Order: sequence, then structure tokens, then C-alpha cells
Amino acid sequence: MALTPTAFEWVCALVRKESAIVLEKGKEYLVESRLVPLARAAGAADVSAYVDGVRLRPDRRTQVAIVEALTTNETSWFRDGAPFQAFATTVVPALKQSRATTRSVRIWSAASSTGQEPYSLAIGLQDSLIAEGWRAEIVATDLSTEVLEKAKAGTYSQLEVNRGLPAPLLVRHFTRAGMNWQVNANIRQMVRFQQLNLTGSYAALGQFDVVFLRNVLIYFDLATKRDILGRVRRALKPDGYLFLGGAETTLGVDDNWERQLIGRVSVHRPKN
Ligand SMILES: C[S@@+](CC[C@H](N)C(=O)[O-])C[C@H]1O[C@@H](n2cnc3c(N)ncnc32)[C@H](O)[C@@H]1O
Repeated sequence: MALTPTAFEWVCALVRKESAIVLEKGKEYLVESRLVPLARAAGAADVSAYVDGVRLRPDRRTQVAIVEALTTNETSWFRDGAPFQAFATTVVPALKQSRATTRSVRIWSAASSTGQEPYSLAIGLQDSLIAEGWRAEIVATDLSTEVLEKAKAGTYSQLEVNRGLPAPLLVRHFTRAGMNWQVNANIRQMVRFQQLNLTGSYAALGQFDVVFLRNVLIYFDLATKRDILGRVRRALKPDGYLFLGGAETTLGVDDNWERQLIGRVSVHRPKN
């Protein structure tokens, strides 16, 4: 049986409350297909019956599982290419000048999914800051504990490494683990993974030189985008750099940013 309107609306409200992700009318099929595995595992007759069960007898673990199932975790190595190039060719050299006394940088991958983004950043720093003895800490956060577990393990299938990782970097920074590939320990040690909801407080994270907040604002409404951008600005040093996804912007959302064009990539700097 197709998902009932009551079940669909209940799931949309739960997901919005817990993650700020907006699921609009027309996403019934998406919701149903994402929840089929959970419904099957619970032995429910169908997704509506499964949702009704949770709706009528609320259970925290099941609610969390539903929210996690409705996050979109799509990612790849050096996703979109150009932002990582802008980071390496312009941002890192600028930080080398401005942070010359501390010789240390902190980077936040603020919706890190299964880890390809923070590990791409760590790999990208090897021949510059790391080779020169600098300290680089990458904090990687996500709402979903499931993707964070995979990210921490740093183990990827052949199909996954084929998505954006140049062969020389695979050979240099990964080790065969059966049919899979594992990111080498020196790269894994640069990244600290932590569960964090972007709608919650960032106070415990400290301040960053660079924030990658990519391909996550697209799921939120305007007020949530504005709130998150405002608080990310406070988590960024006054001369720091914010990278957004290709379909994301600060324009018309939060005017307290200046855009700096690096090649064809817009990098956002706090207005001071
Ligand atoms: C499409 S992935 C983006 C991954 C990576 N940044 C990239 O650009 O390839 C979006 C990620 O945002 C996470 N996410 C969604 N809502 C979130 C929230 N409220 N707080 C933290 N992370 C969230 C999802 O779990 C998912 O892993």
C-alpha cells in the first residue's frame, strides 16, 4: 500500500524537527523508498504500518533511524574539483603567510558524510603544510552516526574510490583491505569525527581558519540557512574562508559575507 498522507506528514514533521531537513509534498516516493529497509527489518506489513507503529508508540531509537534514513549522504573525493583547487592554490598559500607564527590551521568539514570531504582536505595538505611541519587539525561533523562510523573506519569499496580519487593518490594514501581500500593512518589521524547537528550549538568546536559547509544548506529553509550561516561566521576566524556547495550561496540569505572569486569558485569571507 502507498504511504498514507498521515504517515507521510508525520515523517516530514519528525525529520524537520530533528534535522531541519525540509521534505515537501511530492517526496512521498523518496520517503517510502528510504524507509522500506527499516520497515522490513522491523517485520512491518508496509511502510505506513511501520510509521503508524512508531507514531503511536514513540521510540527514540526508531525515530533517530528514520531521520538518518532520510538524510542524503551523496559525496565523492575532491567533489566538484574546483573548490579543492582553490583551497590548495590560493587559500593554503594565504594561510601560510597569515598563520606563520603559529604554523597551525584548523578546518571544519561541517557535513562530512562518509568522510570523503575531510580526507580529501587532509590528502590535499600533504605536500604543502604537512611536508613543511605545520599542524593541521580537521574536525569533521555530521548529524548521522551511521555515516560517521563509516567515515571513522576510512574504508571504501573500489566503486567509491573510483569516484574522484586520482590513481596516484589512491596508491600513495590507501592500503588494500581485502576487496576494499583503507585510508592510511597518517591521514586518518588528521581528522577528528564528531556527531553534531547543525541546528545545535557550535560552541564546543572552537574557531576555524576554513569551513567547508557544502551541499547541506540546500536541504534547509531560508530561516535555518540564515541561522546556520550566522553561527558559522562566529565559528570562523575574522579572516577565515567559507566554502559552500555549487548550488549554495550567502546572497539573499546572510549579507555579512564578502565573496572572493578564486577561478570560478566563490569563497566567502566574513565582513568585518
Ligand atoms: C549531501 S551530503 C554532503 C557531503 C559533503 N559535504 C559533500 O559536499 O560531498 C549532506 C550531509 O549533511 C548531513 N546533514 C543533514 N542535515 C544535517 C544537520 N541538521 N546537521 C548536520 N548534518 C546534517 C547529512 O547526514 C549528509 O551526510
